[in-house]
Amino acid sequence: MPGPVEILTHEHRIIERALRALRGVCQRLERGMSVPADVPAQLVGFIQTFADRCHHGKEEKHLFPVLEEQGVPREGGPIGVMLQEHELGRGFVREMAEAASAYARGETDAASRFVRAAQSYMDLLAQHIYKEDNVLFRIAENVLDAPTKAALVEAFEREEAALGLGTHEHYEAMVSELEKAWAA
Ligand SMILES: [Fe+2]
Ligand SMILES: [Fe+2]
Repeated sequence: MPGPVEILTHEHRIIERALRALRGVCQRLERGMSVPADVPAQLVGFIQTFADRCHHGKEEKHLFPVLEEQGVPREGGPIGVMLQEHELGRGFVREMAEAASAYARGETDAASRFVRAAQSYMDLLAQHIYKEDNVLFRIAENVLDAPTKAALVEAFEREEAALGLGTHEHYEAMVSELEKAWAA
């Protein structure tokens, strides 16, 4: 049975695959190559559902509060920084979503708006994931005992069921297709 940190780390790898597809789409848009009207929105949809609701939701509602209980500081510490970065990311995703709809409507500056917001998001997420993998998740492995880890895994499962989202297999299949079609 994978523990909570392994689950979240694996989700980072899935997010990175979606970002590779996003990077490929952005490169095409920057070169003025055509990308089907619904593809930017499809990538944003994946990020909103999988990265934001599913993954960041588990961190914010479950992992971070448990770490705080174990004495990891929120304000002025790694948790506060991670929360700020999630909010910053949500802002970029909103900009991407607006630009993706404008792109689907055929608005002229939509592609460059999309690329700009996506670039900010990709830069943010790359260093955010790096810090979680190498700092916060290592702290979590050290401070959380086995029963707390087991409780977190259960909480993650309940969270996914409550959101009514697809299974991990569903997202892995989706990201494989996106990557195959668009990763540069
Ligand atoms: Fe995070
Ligand atoms: Fe994360």
